[in-house]
Amino acid sequence: KQDLIIAIDGHSSTGKSSMSKLLAKQLGYTHIDSGAMYRTVTLFAFQNDLIENNQVLVDQLVPRLDEILIEFRYNADNNCNETYLNGVNVEEEIRGLQVSSMVSPIAVIPEVRDYCVALQQKMGVNKRIVMDGRDIGTTVFPNADIKIFITASAEIRAKRRFLEYEREGKTIPFDEVLANVIERDHIDSTREYSPLRKADDAILLDNSNLNLEETVAAALKIIQEHN
Ligand code: C5P
Repeated sequence: KQDLIIAIDGHSSTGKSSMSKLLAKQLGYTHIDSGAMYRTVTLFAFQNDLIENNQVLVDQLVPRLDEILIEFRYNADNNCNETYLNGVNVEEEIRGLQVSSMVSPIAVIPEVRDYCVALQQKMGVNKRIVMDGRDIGTTVFPNADIKIFITASAEIRAKRRFLEYEREGKTIPFDEVLANVIERDHIDSTREYSPLRKADDAILLDNSNLNLEETVAAALKIIQEHN
C-alpha cells in the first residue's frame, strides 16, 4: 500500500478530529490535530497575559512565538496523541470554552499561521498521516493524496458540542455554544490569510445525518475510490 497524506478540512464541531483519529487507527497512520496547535498558542497567550478584554496583544505575542514548544506525545492508555506546551500536558485545558472563544482571533494572525503551518509540514515529511484542520488541503499540503471537506448544519454541530460539554459535567447554555460555532465559522471563512474553504479537488462529506462510525466508513470509501 502506498504511503499517503490525507487532508481533512471542515467546519468546527463536525467531529473531524474524532473521525480522523479513528481513520488513522484503521490505516495504521499518525493522526495530527492541527487545531490543537492554534489552541495551544491561545493558551500560551492567556497564560502570559497577552489577551486583554478579549483583545489579543498581537505585537507582544508575535515576538514570543519561538517560546512556544508544541509537541504531541502518544498516550497508550487512551490510544491518543496528547498535546504538550513546553513539556506540560495541556490536552484538557485547550478544549475549554475560554480557549475556544479566543482561538479564531489568534488563528487569523499571519505569523501564528506560518509558525503552525511550518510545524505541520514538518510532521508530514514521512507521509502516512491523517491531518485535520481548516487549510490542510489548501495551504499545508496542497498536493495531499486525498482531501476531504467535512460539514454539517450549525445547529447539529452546536448540539454535538453541547452534549460533549454536558458529558464533561459542564452546563453551558445551548445558545452560547451555537453562537460560538457560528462566530468561529464566520471568522475562519472570512479571514484574509488562508481562510477556511473547500479545496477544488476535495471531496465534500456532509455528516449532518451520520454518526461517527458512519462518517469514518464514508471517509474510508472515499479513500478507496480515489486512491
Ligand atoms: O479544529 P478546532 O476546532 O480544534 O480548531 C480550533 C480553531 O483553530 C478553529 O476554529 C480555527 O480558528 C483554527 N484553525 C485554523 N486552521 C487549522 C486548524 C484550526 O485556523 N488548520
